[in-house]
Amino acid sequence: MKSKIAIFASGRGSNSRAIIHYFKDHPFISVDCIICNRKNAGVFDVAEEEGVAAFHFGKEEFQSADKILELLKIRGVDWIVLAGFLLKVPSLIIGAYQGRMVNIHPSLLPKFGGAGMYGDNVHLAVLEAGEPKSGISIHWVDEGYDTGSLIQQFECIIEENDDLQSLKSKIQKLEHEHLPQLLESLIQNEKG
Ligand code: GRF
Repeated sequence: MKSKIAIFASGRGSNSRAIIHYFKDHPFISVDCIICNRKNAGVFDVAEEEGVAAFHFGKEEFQSADKILELLKIRGVDWIVLAGFLLKVPSLIIGAYQGRMVNIHPSLLPKFGGAGMYGDNVHLAVLEAGEPKSGISIHWVDEGYDTGSLIQQFECIIEENDDLQSLKSKIQKLEHEHLPQLLESLIQNEKG
């Protein structure tokens, strides 16, 4: 039986698309659904274009978690990936998916993580600090914001003429390339 992934996302969904493409026709992994907390998020268009089921849950439904857990259970979801998901994940879901839920963050954690560090805020803070490099962090999910233990990081150099747009595109390139591959190897390891 294939391992099923649910993607939790709140935004544009470029990582969701990269993950869906990577696992299309994969022998032992499939993307089962996308779960999103924002009604008009671009990720719903991605889901429709790619033919993947998508569900909306509001903030309160996320906090109480029972409806979401029930959906995940009914659909037989094995793994959760947070790809640009902006709400805190409730403990009930974290407990149920211990060791099977990862997040991607667009900086080299622990630098530039935590509350308020999302989207452009992260890249602007990195540039403002004059960092020589940035990158992405893929980590396990715990109760905090961006505090779970690190699985792997990938770096890029920041050049003198880099600005928000150019840094953002370097980071996205890293994300789209590495997140699906890393997920694949984590799931493969778990299957043994
Ligand atoms: C990514 O940079 C991810 O690292 C961060 O949010 C962004 C989501 O982008 N957590 P997208 O919605 O997948 O395009």
